[in-house]
Amino acid sequence: MKARLHMTAPFKTFLMLTLSMTFMTGLAACGQPVAQSGKVATSGTADIGGAYNLVNQDGQAVTDQTYAGRPQLIYFGFTYCPDICPTALMQMGMAQEKLAEKGKDVQYIFISVDPERDTPDILAQYVTANGFPKGLIGLTGTVEQVEATKAAYKVYSTKVIDEASAGDYMVDHSSIIYFMDAKGELVEFFTHNSTPNDIATRVRVAIGK
Ligand code: NI
Repeated sequence: MKARLHMTAPFKTFLMLTLSMTFMTGLAACGQPVAQSGKVATSGTADIGGAYNLVNQDGQAVTDQTYAGRPQLIYFGFTYCPDICPTALMQMGMAQEKLAEKGKDVQYIFISVDPERDTPDILAQYVTANGFPKGLIGLTGTVEQVEATKAAYKVYSTKVIDEASAGDYMVDHSSIIYFMDAKGELVEFFTHNSTPNDIATRVRVAIGK
């Protein structure tokens, strides 16, 4: 089920920036913050989010319905990412701390854009890293499953081969923290410019706590 959403001008600008960066210049290694966080509210529509079929860090098949009924903060990245992904996940971890009891229903989800390396076992270790949200779910899948999920969330990523070390690669990817409501509809998004306090406050207001 794809949510049909309304968005503000800044959000449209963000999407256009993302698209132009994606198709014209590409992203810097491991993503680049391109916009401030933005509320999704009035004119225009965007389809972000929807159904997916993936595998969790315990190797169990899951879908978007597995997490339905809970507000969610979702981030796409890859476990080999040296800095941008850990930074975003630590932002989410700090927001979780600030939310404390009021945020106990919020589900934190990391979706790999590097399914070939990010096996469930790798994810199982990764999601327990210090500073990441407690209870963080790690999702991966087949290349096809991950591509379909990326498409649903308008996530861009591409492999960048490291010439210096044979077979090694980085993944350029958009770096956005999506805040979805309990129905799986996008409420707003956060970037590296969003402080943990900002994220916690907006989430708390949105869930009415
Ligand atoms: Ni990254």
